[in-house]
Amino acid sequence: MHDSLPAEKAYRILEAGPVILVSTRGTDDRTNLMTAGFHMMMQHAPPLVGVIIGPWDYSYQALSDTGECVLAVPPAGMAKAVVDIGNCSGETDDKFARFGLTPVAAQSVSAPLVDECLANQNWLMAIHYRTYRKCIAMNTGVPLPHTLYVVHLAD
Ligand SMILES: Cc1cc2nc3c(=O)[nH]c(=O)nc-3n(C[C@H](O)[C@H](O)[C@H](O)COP(=O)(O)O)c2cc1C
Repeated sequence: MHDSLPAEKAYRILEAGPVILVSTRGTDDRTNLMTAGFHMMMQHAPPLVGVIIGPWDYSYQALSDTGECVLAVPPAGMAKAVVDIGNCSGETDDKFARFGLTPVAAQSVSAPLVDECLANQNWLMAIHYRTYRKCIAMNTGVPLPHTLYVVHLAD
């Protein structure tokens, strides 16, 4: 049987990885979390991950300014909090406090680990793909508001 989905629902079968939390610390020293489903492994060695982040997200500026983040994999029990974290802004909310999460100092980046998560990795920005949006728009005629950040594993 060959099922097909409308194109706008294709993410439901392609996006098999975990929804993650992106942890950042801005130049103003404020920590923040955002939820991200649009991410993908891009290379084994050195490990590269692409994360799609909208410039309207508060996290965007912190990641852009510092080039540092932690990608944290939450447990299933955090599902509700993960959705809620993705529906409020660090501009107005201290999300660690609001969702009862514990920031823990990371080894090689200023962004904190999330103690309640299953796994936390320190990442450094390799490429802030500024031209990505222009390329997609040029090749497809479809304007793309998001930005692709490519990050690599910090030692
Ligand atoms: C399940 C889920 C997945 C999400 N995935 C992304 C994503 O991949 N990229 C993105 O820019 N926003 C994504 N969002 C939206 C952001 O998490 C949301 O805009 C958040 O409020 C940003 O927080 P901030 O403004 O504090 O950075 C997602 C939200 C949810 C609930």
